[in-house]
Amino acid sequence: MAEHVRVLLTEEEVDRRIQEIGGQISKDYEGKQVHLICVLKGGSFFMCELAKRITVPVSLDFMSVSSYGSATKSSGVVRIVKDLDEPLKDKDVLVVEDIVDSGRTLSYLLEMLKDREPKSVKLCTLLDKPERRVVDVDVDYTCFQIPDEFVVGYGLDYDQRYRNLPYIGIVEFD
Ligand code: IMP
Ligand code: MG
Repeated sequence: MAEHVRVLLTEEEVDRRIQEIGGQISKDYEGKQVHLICVLKGGSFFMCELAKRITVPVSLDFMSVSSYGSATKSSGVVRIVKDLDEPLKDKDVLVVEDIVDSGRTLSYLLEMLKDREPKSVKLCTLLDKPERRVVDVDVDYTCFQIPDEFVVGYGLDYDQRYRNLPYIGIVEFD
């Protein structure tokens, strides 16, 4: 089956919005250092672009998680595949995600991070699909709310492909 990607958000639209959100974060964290946590692999492209737009001091760390459950439905129980390098104690933590879908993975992850006694924890996501939410998650910064479509690009994959697209698109099958 042939597939192609239809553009949903252009590179210019995404870049402009990341610049806005970066400005907002810089204001909100004035006088502080923000500790960005990238959830691999999807959050990596977004985090790099966002970090460049933040003007307060920034430190970075990475983690990789996989959720137990079937291929199509995350159980919300998260296994840490790669843990953070640094402790979170007394840090102002900002978790950077590619997309909030059901919210299962993220709500579990946030609770786990709060146990490490950071000074604060906030969440920033590139995309949000509110129609799909099953578990409530407080999202502090959202670049775009999108409809319930499967999207790729800017870090998001379909079977590990398309992460490198500089825009966000919808996979369509002919
Ligand atoms: P959930 O919020 O626990 O359902 O899981 C969210 C995760 O599912 C995200 O971090 C993505 O890795 C993946 N995901 C959800 N929707 C999409 C999509 O439209 N495209 C690509 N990956 C997605
Ligand atoms: Mg993800």
